[in-house]
Amino acid sequence: MRVHTITLGCQMSAADGAETLQALENAGWQKTDDVSEADAVVLTTCTVRAHAEHRAISMIGRLRTWKDADPRRMLVVTGCVAERLGPRLTQRFPHVDLVVGAREAARTPQIVAELLGKRFQPQPKTAPVKNKICACVTIMRGCDCACSYCIVPSVRGPEACRPLEDILSEMRDKIAAGAKEITLLGQRVNAYRESGKTFADLLRRADCIEGLARLRFMSPHPALMDEKTFTAIRDGEHICPAIHIPVQSGNDRVLALMKRGHTRRDFLEMIQRLRQAVPGVVLSTDIIVGFPSETEEDFAQSLTLLEELKPAAAFCFKYSAREGTPSARLKDDVPVQVKEDRLGAVNALVSKLAQAALHSQIGSEVEVLAETPDFGRTRTGFKARWKQAVAPGSLLRLQVAEVSRRTLSGEISS
Ligand code: 5AD
Ligand code: SF4
Repeated sequence: MRVHTITLGCQMSAADGAETLQALENAGWQKTDDVSEADAVVLTTCTVRAHAEHRAISMIGRLRTWKDADPRRMLVVTGCVAERLGPRLTQRFPHVDLVVGAREAARTPQIVAELLGKRFQPQPKTAPVKNKICACVTIMRGCDCACSYCIVPSVRGPEACRPLEDILSEMRDKIAAGAKEITLLGQRVNAYRESGKTFADLLRRADCIEGLARLRFMSPHPALMDEKTFTAIRDGEHICPAIHIPVQSGNDRVLALMKRGHTRRDFLEMIQRLRQAVPGVVLSTDIIVGFPSETEEDFAQSLTLLEELKPAAAFCFKYSAREGTPSARLKDDVPVQVKEDRLGAVNALVSKLAQAALHSQIGSEVEVLAETPDFGRTRTGFKARWKQAVAPGSLLRLQVAEVSRRTLSGEISS
């Protein structure tokens, strides 16, 4: 039996999709990249921005011909669009067989494997499936924040943290199956709290796991970055000094309307403390342009914040009103063309800053983890290439000679 999986959206969504695929592979399914030969398709969806939801809907529409070619085929839709639209999806698209919403994300692999198992009876696998070199482990789901533009709290529900021992044991399993780098995932990953243990406690425990080469996490909330977390990052032997930390805007009035729980100054002061605690830390962020009532002056403050932050990357989005969120009640009054122009301007600045960050690496010797024989990433998250083939999973020293197409390249020195 063959399954084709499609995941749209953020790393949380990708991790949810990967967990479902793993459950299916353990149940005897074979993954196929060719949808035409699949007996089942599992589509994991995202609704954080209107564009992401449109992609999911059009993908479902396009899968109708695949389903019509053989009605025994099964189409499963999971994730955030499944949660938001629920039965509306099957009403509009009768060719969808099963809808499992994001609030069921923790149980989705089991639900999907059981349902597909009843229809197709695959032969369960005995040997565990080999893991990727870079794996993700979800530590918490949902979000207790109420950022006014964000649909996540309503589709993913309130925060639920996994028991610490379960997380460590999943990490050990993934490492035993070949993973070298683990990214701890959560919508607000540093809100982790379980039986009196905090995110910093979890980082310290996770860092000591035998066989782990690198530990990352995403995405932390700026207002929850405390000294304990900074020192855990600094002390961690394997914790990578590359932190993605969304700021969304550089203007206090907009930040207040967004209900972010921090000001521009709070954010920049926190970054200063982080940089003191973790010298050389490389940062990335998210920015929304064209939030309701954002003026040119407000937007210019997002640009100056980026100039101060000097991120190596930033993901910038045009604001889109999401149904049911508090900001959807505000007038979406920034014209589309102005949003486009601001997005163009912010992306141009981000490219310039990214190039500067990459070029600052030239001449240095960096550690890379080989994900393929000639490609990997530095601890600080930069992509890197080299000529001579090495065993995937090995840690190397690379003498950085040049930058081309957003990738470092050079000679391996050991
Ligand atoms: N419009 C535009 N961008 C959004 N994001 C979340 N909600 C919206 C929205 N309504 C962005 C934020 C967040 C990232 C995952 O998506 O920048 O950090
Ligand atoms: Fe959305 Fe804010 Fe929660 Fe992030 S912290 S998921 S932006 S509500």
